[in-house]
Amino acid sequence: MATYKVARIEEFEELKPKLVKIGPKEVAVYMHKNCFFAYLNECPHQGGPACEGAVWGDLLCELASNKTIAKKYTSTDTYNIICPWHGLEFDLQTGIARGTICSDMKLTLRKINVSVEAGEVNIEVG
Ligand code: FES
Repeated sequence: MATYKVARIEEFEELKPKLVKIGPKEVAVYMHKNCFFAYLNECPHQGGPACEGAVWGDLLCELASNKTIAKKYTSTDTYNIICPWHGLEFDLQTGIARGTICSDMKLTLRKINVSVEAGEVNIEVG
């Protein structure tokens, strides 16, 4: 495993990935509420640049007593990375694909270790 510097904490913008090229690989590092998450920028579906897609809040709903949808809203806590090739959604914090079909297929972005030392964000890539 080798450690690579990505950027200082203050250089990150909330939910906007920093892409780091390491040889033939590319890693995307995200900041969300002062936590950092990093993934290989390669979709487990068909190899698309998953981390170049949008990041959206989870679509949630509240049910009425008659089991109809009373209210739809977008989460401000949980977010998904949307692969731009075919639209699969991956949980920002775990990299696991969302949705029943995706969950059955066990599609997950490859997680990369992130550490923060003296205000510097680093990743470990093997
Ligand atoms: S390559 Fe990402 S959804 Fe198909």
